Amino acid sequence: MLGSLILLWISFCLLLFLFRTQRPKNFPPGPRPVPVFGNLLQLNLKNPLDDLKKLAERYGKVFSLYIGSRPAVVVSGVQAMKEALVTRSVEFAGRPQGLMINDITNNKGVVMVNYGSYWKEQRRFALMMLRNFGMGKQSMEERILGEISHIISHLEKNAGKTTDPQTLFHKAASNIICSVLFGTRYEHDDEFLKLIIRIFTENSKMANGPWSMAYDSLPWLRGFPLPFRKAFQNMETMKKFTADLVAQHQKTRIPGDPRDFVDSYLDELEKRGDDGSSFSERQLVYFLLDLHFAGTDTTSNGLLTAFLYLTTHPDVQERCQREIDVVLGEKEQASYEDRHRMPYVQAMIHEVQRVADTVPLSVFHATTKDTQLMGYDIPKGTLIIPNLSSVLNEESQWKFPHDFNPENFLNQQGEFVKPEAFMPFSAGPRMCLGEGLARMELFLVLVTLLRRFQFVWPEDGGVPDYTLVFGITQTPKPYRMGIRLRGTQRG
Ligand code: HEM
Repeated sequence: MLGSLILLWISFCLLLFLFRTQRPKNFPPGPRPVPVFGNLLQLNLKNPLDDLKKLAERYGKVFSLYIGSRPAVVVSGVQAMKEALVTRSVEFAGRPQGLMINDITNNKGVVMVNYGSYWKEQRRFALMMLRNFGMGKQSMEERILGEISHIISHLEKNAGKTTDPQTLFHKAASNIICSVLFGTRYEHDDEFLKLIIRIFTENSKMANGPWSMAYDSLPWLRGFPLPFRKAFQNMETMKKFTADLVAQHQKTRIPGDPRDFVDSYLDELEKRGDDGSSFSERQLVYFLLDLHFAGTDTTSNGLLTAFLYLTTHPDVQERCQREIDVVLGEKEQASYEDRHRMPYVQAMIHEVQRVADTVPLSVFHATTKDTQLMGYDIPKGTLIIPNLSSVLNEESQWKFPHDFNPENFLNQQGEFVKPEAFMPFSAGPRMCLGEGLARMELFLVLVTLLRRFQFVWPEDGGVPDYTLVFGITQTPKPYRMGIRLRGTQRG
């Protein structure tokens, strides 16, 4: 008996030794990992943000942990973030490979494509399109204002009552990006639109949740019918829908006269022929999926956060409305240019984005060569987790780091200023490529709705809960808001 126990103990120690994970020399410090799981068991995988904060307090702004047997470096605070993403930009501009999110996207599209000429070509094309070159007659602003008119109809029908804004803004954001990509929009009660929203919100919560961590760190689990399969099924549904839309465009397009992003891409594909570039119809489908997803679950969560805070901070809402009324006067509609004359509204929108903390851990990066960060050595191919949340909440960087207060973005003269720690879109070469579109959407939606309606926290709404539900994108908890028509304003 004793002999077997000793044998068991020796085998266990041998196993520990075999699976021992040792940090490379001068690698950032961090908690001791256990075999197989690394540090995963020390983190709350449903929401690791508090744990990451404590680890940064203990080990510093650059520390490491193990996801299974894979080392990862977590970067916190504005100083380290800028050194990594801006100063050493290209060295930190890669994407990790072999994760669930790579397998779901087949390493195509743009978001998870590794740094290199393929990614550069696709990104450059998307940026050019989003700046509205060669994407049809309708401007970006018109597309957004068109969708806002549908939000207004919904809110007008509910004036004097309360509504749950959750799906309203998701549908609107999806329709705006659909109009840019495919030239189409869906009625808000369309079953297919509801399916798209369900799939995007589900995948956003799964993409860096416990099951994806299990998938990433324990490769032998991948063949089993576990909950992460759902993310792959969802992707198949969206792939089929997107490929059908591309096929329809092929049939109806007039070459050289693009109506939308798909037509422009097909023009480019035709122009390039078989030149060995990164352009292909298969790539187009994944590219569209990336843009559709990235353009839906982000802006909508920003809007949801905005109304959660505006209904519970009526003083901020009223001050925005006064500014909007004065600046727009008799003007029929707001335009994006008007933002330059609305410092308080601008400050409010930026503050919303700060507290919305929409993409808290960015999209994971990877180093493209052996490099250094804050004096530590980091080998090529290391997984990098940019903790953007830590920057948006960094105590030394904000006048009111823990409150919702537009003063964070105003100087003493009441002018709008943007502190360098404002990084909700990340920074460097991988920075969000939809930033321009997202900012235009947030401004036009918020200004148009605040001009026309007053939003109130319902009397039976209970105590507002500002806690965010963690995911690759974070979402406010469901809430209801009361809608009242404002008297004299246009809009
Ligand atoms: C408030 C809204 C948004 C926020 C807060 C946001 C935030 C982010 C963040 C943090 C990243 C990761 C950057 C990095 O890896 O360093 C990102 C990447 C990206 N975003 Fe956004 N985003 C928003 C809206 C949009 C929209 C509307 C689009 C669609 C056009 C979009 C498309 C993308 C794409 C394609 C990438 C990947 C870029 C690349 O890997 O080169 N985003 N976004």
